[in-house]
Amino acid sequence: MRIISFANHKGGVGKTTTVVNTAFAFSRMGRRVLVVDMDPQGNATLTLGGVDPFEHDQTIGHLLADKDLGIADCALAVSDTLFLVPANLDTYEQLALLPPNSAKRIFGLREKMDLLRQGEDRYDFVFVDCPPQIEGPLVINAVAASDAYVLPVDGESLYALQGTNHLMQAIEAIREDTNSGIRLLGVLVTMVNPRTTASRLVMRAVRDFFGNAVFKTTIRRNTTLNKANLSRRYICDLDPASYGCKDYQGFAGEMLGRLDAERGP
Ligand SMILES: Nc1ncnc2c1ncn2[C@@H]1O[C@H](COP(=O)(O)OP(=O)(O)OP(=O)(O)O)[C@@H](O)[C@H]1O
Ligand SMILES: [Mg+2]
Repeated sequence: MRIISFANHKGGVGKTTTVVNTAFAFSRMGRRVLVVDMDPQGNATLTLGGVDPFEHDQTIGHLLADKDLGIADCALAVSDTLFLVPANLDTYEQLALLPPNSAKRIFGLREKMDLLRQGEDRYDFVFVDCPPQIEGPLVINAVAASDAYVLPVDGESLYALQGTNHLMQAIEAIREDTNSGIRLLGVLVTMVNPRTTASRLVMRAVRDFFGNAVFKTTIRRNTTLNKANLSRRYICDLDPASYGCKDYQGFAGEMLGRLDAERGP
């Protein structure tokens, strides 16, 4: 079981859209995937959770705050191979109940994942959808528990790389403090509009900065992705011919290839 966070302190860069559609793609490739919604905005929960996020009474906040709760108590089955630990705005209240110096503020998710590894209810991959923050208990919990992270960047924003160093340094500092094994799996450029100068400039800057860490697949701007999120569906079920479907299928294949290559033959 490998745990992968999708993180960027910038909002609206496609973290949740990537988590949801890549999780669907992995699950269709026969992998068992658990999505952990670490964002009290509950966007992944809105798309995957089936009901209004407020209707879930066992959320990530309860999981982190209550030592007696396990993943199995909170995870909902989206399909036979796709599962979700939901979040909603009440998650903030649960987190506020954690004492300031409590280890759960740091290691809560890792502890639950370690228990999961010992039990029978295994997943091949856990995808953690991070909130747009650089620090705070949710990001710290995600980084402390993860083996790797994917950094989605907005391919049409000239500010795409602003603060990226700071984010990566923050992740590195948490990694050292928590003895986590997290490392950058790759950088995914989203919202690409190949016809605009801005997109070309961003692509070049991202490749200059990150080199081979950049995934070859990019995600083009495609409004069908927005429709899929709103109608709570996998983009490839909604419109298999869309760019969004092709790009996320391509990305899922490339990401899985990277994960398999790391593991060795
Ligand atoms: N490739 C794309 N083309 C067009 N729209 C997209 C694309 N990817 C995501 N979107 C839309 O852009 C918005 C932001 O995407 P998303 O919620 O995935 O970003 P996020 O990084 O998770 O945001 P936040 O930081 O607020 O959690 C959503 O409305 C989503 O439907
Ligand atoms: Mg999000």
